[in-house]
Amino acid sequence: MLTLRLVLTGDESHDTPLIQQAAAIIRAGGLVAFPTETVYGLGADALNSEAVRRIFLAKGRPAWDPLIVHVDEPDAIRRYTRDYSILTEKLIHAFMPGPLTLVLPKREVISEVVTAGRETVAIRIPQHPVARALIRYSGTPIAAPSANKFGRPSPTTADHVLHDLSGAIDAVLDAGATPMGVESTILDMTTDPPTLLRPGGVPREAIEALIGEVRVLGEAYREGEPLPAPGLSARHYAPSAKVVLCAPLPDAFYSALEDALSRYAFVGAMRPEGWRVPDSTRLQVFEWGVWGDWQTLAQRLFLGLRALEAAGVHAIVCPLPPEEGLAHALRDRLQRAAHD
Ligand code: TXA
Ligand code: MG
Repeated sequence: MLTLRLVLTGDESHDTPLIQQAAAIIRAGGLVAFPTETVYGLGADALNSEAVRRIFLAKGRPAWDPLIVHVDEPDAIRRYTRDYSILTEKLIHAFMPGPLTLVLPKREVISEVVTAGRETVAIRIPQHPVARALIRYSGTPIAAPSANKFGRPSPTTADHVLHDLSGAIDAVLDAGATPMGVESTILDMTTDPPTLLRPGGVPREAIEALIGEVRVLGEAYREGEPLPAPGLSARHYAPSAKVVLCAPLPDAFYSALEDALSRYAFVGAMRPEGWRVPDSTRLQVFEWGVWGDWQTLAQRLFLGLRALEAAGVHAIVCPLPPEEGLAHALRDRLQRAAHD
């Protein structure tokens, strides 16, 4: 299969026909990768089980790992879910469209292929204008995981998508780099209090300020307990190089790089601006951004991991962000990328 690259320019008269072309592919049961405000998604008609099955094949994703359904308005959430509580109402009002995914009891029309046999469905309203236009023109909810091969770092550009999936999908809508760079926050509304399944674009603190305390999964569940969210396996988002985490201090970073250079022939560094690195021809540096500027660091996280991987490094040294605000999402992705 030849994968079409539909390059958008931000000009409506140029872009609309291309997005309509992509929508026609979705309606015909095809696979289209598209930008959201978080990362690129790999979309198919969520009401067409055959089309949804093709997503799993293209990604190499196990059938037990359910997909997020993308819709363009709150009414659509009511159409596909049940037991819509006042808390859910508040969250939708405050954070949607935006990088928040809610897990809710599903209605019959959402097939078990999408939810991997679960009685719940993960649903969100993306903010990116291209994602919203695609859903609208398709006239159907769009099931979409991140548009990477299963287990790999999520794609933040169309090049990343094509690197992993060229030839396996029908088209990619290319609107440049995605603005946030890390995936949506996933909140399970079927528990009391709600459970944070994945930290993401909407910080836990902002959610708690609105609806009170949420439960956060500890590290413990990773050690052989049944996974509350099937896709949240310990190792994920990983480049082919070994990811080595260090304390978020310039000296610790420098020592971790020296140590890595003594073990590996070619080393990559996710370097915060102004932090010192050893002088070595066996070191490849990715200029990540200013430490503490989490928005920039989030936007460039997967870009950096993929760039260093493409350079051929054997190990990537990276400081570990704190467990707060948007940094929590970066910390989570890096810990999974570093997991053996
Ligand atoms: O920002 C995002 O959320 C991106 C963009 C494309 O929307 N999507 C994304 O999808 O990150 P994916 O498939 O890579 O991650 C979705 C996660 C998976 O870990 C999956 O197991 C979990 O959501 N999930 C989906 N449905 C679920 C459900 N019913 N209950 C619990 N977890 C669920
Ligand atoms: Mg993913």
